[in-house]
Amino acid sequence: MAREFSTVGVVGLGTMGAGIVEVFARNGIDVVAVEISAPALERGRATLKGSTDRAVAKGKLAEADRDALHERVHFAVGLDALHSVDLVIEAVPEHLDLKQRIFAELDRVCRPETILATNTSSLSVTEISVATSRPNQVIGIHFFNPAPVMKLVEVVRTVVTAPEVVADVEALCARLGKVDVTINDRAGFIANALLFGYLNHAVSMFESHYATREDIDAAMKLGCGLPMGPLALMDLIGLDTAYEILDTMYRRGGRDRRHAPVPLLKQMVTAGLLGRKSGRGFYTYERPGSPVVVPDGATPPATDAALADGARAIAKVGVVGSGTMATGIIEVFAKAGYEVVSVTRGMEKSAKVCEAVKTSLNKGVVRGKLTEADRDAALGRISWSATLDHLADVDLVVEAVVEELSVKKALFASLDEICKPGVVLATTTSSLPVIDVAMATQRPADVVGLHFFNPAPVMPLVEVVRTIRTSPEATATARAVCAALGKTGVVCGDRSGFIVNALLFPYLNDAVKMLEASYSTADDIDHAMKLGCGYPMGPFELLDVVGLDVSLAIQRELYLELREPGFAPAPLLEHLVTAGYLGRKTRRGFRDHSHR
Ligand SMILES: NC(=O)c1ccc[n+]([C@@H]2O[C@H](COP(=O)([O-])OP(=O)(O)OC[C@H]3O[C@@H](n4cnc5c(N)ncnc54)[C@H](O)[C@@H]3O)[C@@H](O)[C@H]2O)c1
Repeated sequence: MAREFSTVGVVGLGTMGAGIVEVFARNGIDVVAVEISAPALERGRATLKGSTDRAVAKGKLAEADRDALHERVHFAVGLDALHSVDLVIEAVPEHLDLKQRIFAELDRVCRPETILATNTSSLSVTEISVATSRPNQVIGIHFFNPAPVMKLVEVVRTVVTAPEVVADVEALCARLGKVDVTINDRAGFIANALLFGYLNHAVSMFESHYATREDIDAAMKLGCGLPMGPLALMDLIGLDTAYEILDTMYRRGGRDRRHAPVPLLKQMVTAGLLGRKSGRGFYTYERPGSPVVVPDGATPPATDAALADGARAIAKVGVVGSGTMATGIIEVFAKAGYEVVSVTRGMEKSAKVCEAVKTSLNKGVVRGKLTEADRDAALGRISWSATLDHLADVDLVVEAVVEELSVKKALFASLDEICKPGVVLATTTSSLPVIDVAMATQRPADVVGLHFFNPAPVMPLVEVVRTIRTSPEATATARAVCAALGKTGVVCGDRSGFIVNALLFPYLNDAVKMLEASYSTADDIDHAMKLGCGYPMGPFELLDVVGLDVSLAIQRELYLELREPGFAPAPLLEHLVTAGYLGRKTRRGFRDHSHR
């Protein structure tokens, strides 16, 4: 029989603690909520009230249930109030000495059978446990932010945690409606070990002005379907907490430089810019604790006119290539009202591309997304050619030929001879340096990257890559074109992986390394990222969809360009590719897809 938890204590009512109180009280468990001082207690009470009021306003909680929830919570200053609870969850700031002091005190105050749990994200549960006389009753219960919403709980057992304590806590998680993964005590557990390298990398992109905060966040939301961008997530986590987590992971996790907190983080924390909780972090909020972002000095102008400042007029667009990307891009431009000249290497190829565009447009008609008249008009705007000479009078060329530098360079040299002056020349490369392509022409200022995502008609994001030679007008033109296509164009520098791939693939590679180290299973890792961080797919699901060979090639490029030891491709990934297990396309990757 699992142990009955009728009263639990929560220590620290900050970002996490207040949410954890709500989780328990919502599930009919009495809570003793403890803070260090009366003002901190009032802040915690206000956070709980704000959160439950919002739930009522959204129709997710009945008023009577909210009132009953509040009646279950007893607020107190000081740990003495916890003398008769069955379980304590500590959620004070991420400092080992502070947590050890609190656990020693809890050990003294609480009944001998009480389970003592920490919500630490990165500290050693084992080191915390030895501050008590009952390390076998100490465990990690790691909730995710916001605790009332996120389904995942990481249950962390140390080498001395008693098995029945683990079982009791697992049963409790189920009662709370949470999904638990039980793991050993390692820095960052599953989710944070995979998340924080990515978050820190995003901060360094922002710090080095590689892209704006809005563009970094939009890229990850729209390119990967994440619920929020990395900088908005840092603000939600709290920059002080994030700093401590990174710092601990760096020290405990083998001094991986990717976890060494980016200097800007420390500066922001020192300046009191802690994120949502202080009203300002990477973004500015309506008031401390509010989720509502308000404009500040760094907010880009929203109007189309400002976006198009310096942009050249584009009416006619050439698209070179006959593959998946070229086909999608032709459709996107034609649907948006541009005149399109498609150039392939032969009329046979043109006929195939034409068929593919027709099929895709017809699907749109069947699904009610497009009228027949719109389809016909779009097709009427496209002309088909097998010679580049037909690009003499276009205003923009989008190149989407094979991903080989020599081919692209030769093509751009030809475009340079054929196209009229002032044309913007764009490459859709996802891995080659745009500057190499630009320097094959006599007009590198007019060359940009336009990195569409597959399938181009569906994906809302385009990365606009400017090289050190790209003119502001060419960048503005590219961005205005993205807006006219109904897509979000994010501007970034000319570095391997641009924004999305540079942030996504090292994370996927880290997941492979975690699996390889037997720390957890592919299923639990996928669960952790989906339920703890709201990712639409787990890393192994995504790797199987993208293709292990493609992922390995991108990861190799990143490693070669940045020479970051942490980016070295995981040996397991290399082996699977060598073995021909490439993912869904070969019916086997990390998982066996032969029966699906
Ligand atoms: N922020 C997140 O997204 C997140 C997610 C999961 C886990 N965690 C972990 O949860 C813990 C708390 O983080 P947070 O972000 O909620 O921090 P926070 O700074 O928002 O809140 C900490 C609270 O603890 C209180 N406190 C400090 N000393 C105390 C004491 N001696 N007794 C009682 N209360 C005390 C503070 O007044 C404050 O309200 C950390 O271990 C963190 O790593 C954080």
